[in-house]
Amino acid sequence: YVERTLAIIKPDAVKHAEEIEDIILNSGFTILQKRRVHLTPEQASEFYVEHYGKLFFPSLVAYMSSGPVIALALARENAISHWRMLVGPTSVTEAKETHPDSLRALYGTDQQRNGLHGSDSYTSAEWEVRFFFPDSIVEPIAVGQ
Ligand code: CMP
Repeated sequence: YVERTLAIIKPDAVKHAEEIEDIILNSGFTILQKRRVHLTPEQASEFYVEHYGKLFFPSLVAYMSSGPVIALALARENAISHWRMLVGPTSVTEAKETHPDSLRALYGTDQQRNGLHGSDSYTSAEWEVRFFFPDSIVEPIAVGQ
């Protein structure tokens, strides 16, 4: 069924945003909403709160608030898993070895500055879309049937 997911083009990949958006559209996604935003450290902490306490959390927050990001609400059949496949593994080294066509292999730098983000589940997708698009009046698209 058709569902939504949240994509983020991270600070180091924003310079490739046009190319990345072309790949997104050529991969069958619809861009429902798009926003360029420079997160404060507090907003980045809130977005990544599930990683609070991990060793990489402080540097992740610093990185994600170091410059503008582009948040996109994407829709297509099985958007969540398709977007994660297109994005590739978290580690850019692994992405380059095992998924050379993935967006992280193409536009990421390392484990942290990995170019892109994708929601990892239906629950996080709904929460993450609302985080960036709180005024959206769009009803949840996915109706598991
Ligand atoms: P993302 O998919 O946005 O979700 C959490 C982010 O934390 C991840 O991409 C990376 O940017 C970062 N991250 C995950 N694991 C590590 C790690 N081991 N070291 C540094 N950053 C990490």
